[in-house]
Amino acid sequence: MKSEVKKEFKIAILPGDGIGPEVTTEALKVLRAIETRYGTTFLTETGLVGACAIDATGDPFPEKTETLCKNSDAILFGAIGDPKYDNDPSAKVRPEQGLLRMRKSLGLYANIRPVKTFSQLQHKSPIKEEIIANTDFIVFRELTGGIYFGEPSEISTDGNSAVDTCSYSQEEIERIATKAFYAAQQRRKKLTLVDKANVLATSRLWRQIVSEMAKDYPDVEVDNMFVDNAAMQLILNPSQFDVILTENMFGDIITDEASVITGSIGLMPSASTGDSVGLFEPIHGSYPQAAGLNKANPMATILSAAMMLEYAFGMKEESIAIYKSVEEALERGIVTEDIDPINYRSTSEVGSAIANMITSAKLV
Ligand code: IPM
Ligand code: MN
Repeated sequence: MKSEVKKEFKIAILPGDGIGPEVTTEALKVLRAIETRYGTTFLTETGLVGACAIDATGDPFPEKTETLCKNSDAILFGAIGDPKYDNDPSAKVRPEQGLLRMRKSLGLYANIRPVKTFSQLQHKSPIKEEIIANTDFIVFRELTGGIYFGEPSEISTDGNSAVDTCSYSQEEIERIATKAFYAAQQRRKKLTLVDKANVLATSRLWRQIVSEMAKDYPDVEVDNMFVDNAAMQLILNPSQFDVILTENMFGDIITDEASVITGSIGLMPSASTGDSVGLFEPIHGSYPQAAGLNKANPMATILSAAMMLEYAFGMKEESIAIYKSVEEALERGIVTEDIDPINYRSTSEVGSAIANMITSAKLV
């Protein structure tokens, strides 16, 4: 076996709500397969977050979960959200607050969302195959600042007006831009800053800082693009992008848009990193209609576990083994109903098949 270093890592598993528990179970199966094949040890402990945490403790991000996360080497997260809160705008405690508090308290300021087409799925995309072929870019979305966290954010006491605040500091912009420039250097050396600098002061600060930083990365070509144009370019010509750098809310919106390029949101993983522990999660939500039915696509969470191996543990070879097994499952039609509505398998069948591919593969 090539990987001789025996390592031990502590992973906090936060299944969350809806389909979260089912998809994290499958990702864990795959991680166990990696242990068997490569002789690594993953020590896992489960914590509560989201609606299930509110039901159990009254708090969407209980202190016990926070401590568990802070004492782990990485976090594998499923999804949060429950329709009973979505339909009640007056609810004081909401599952999403758990996610936002978790991001803030763990300092997860960089959300990394790769967008890559799988050739086996190109025909599933609503966009023409010739347009999406060769799409391979990565979005660096700022995750702990901007309008999501600015104060004030409230509805006035008379209920006639409301305010949200968007603010960014130089430090908040520089730290994520540094990660994005570094990624561009490892890739095709192109960075596109997506903003609304023709209207927003925060965007003008982003542009000023990123242009200044660009001088330190002469090998990286930097482009600026207004977010409305970027929304259009993503559909017209997605292969023009390499690394996209953007603020919190623009990143939220354009990554959902970008997910349709790949043919299924059920395949998009993400990593949220900062200066300490990283969190890895599928970009899809809790899909409550499918909860408990063993039909959700576990691939995005399995690929998030692959990102964890690469980004948090430096296990590149192991990460590629997962990626290749997912590709093989797609190739062999071992997929859930969202990908093939006629010949489909269950969530657990897809997870087991991918785990078996890993354990049974010839050791290199
Ligand atoms: C995401 C989600 C979250 C966000 C919600 C659930 C708060 O949409 O991770 O993209 O807006 O950041
Ligand atoms: Mn989102």
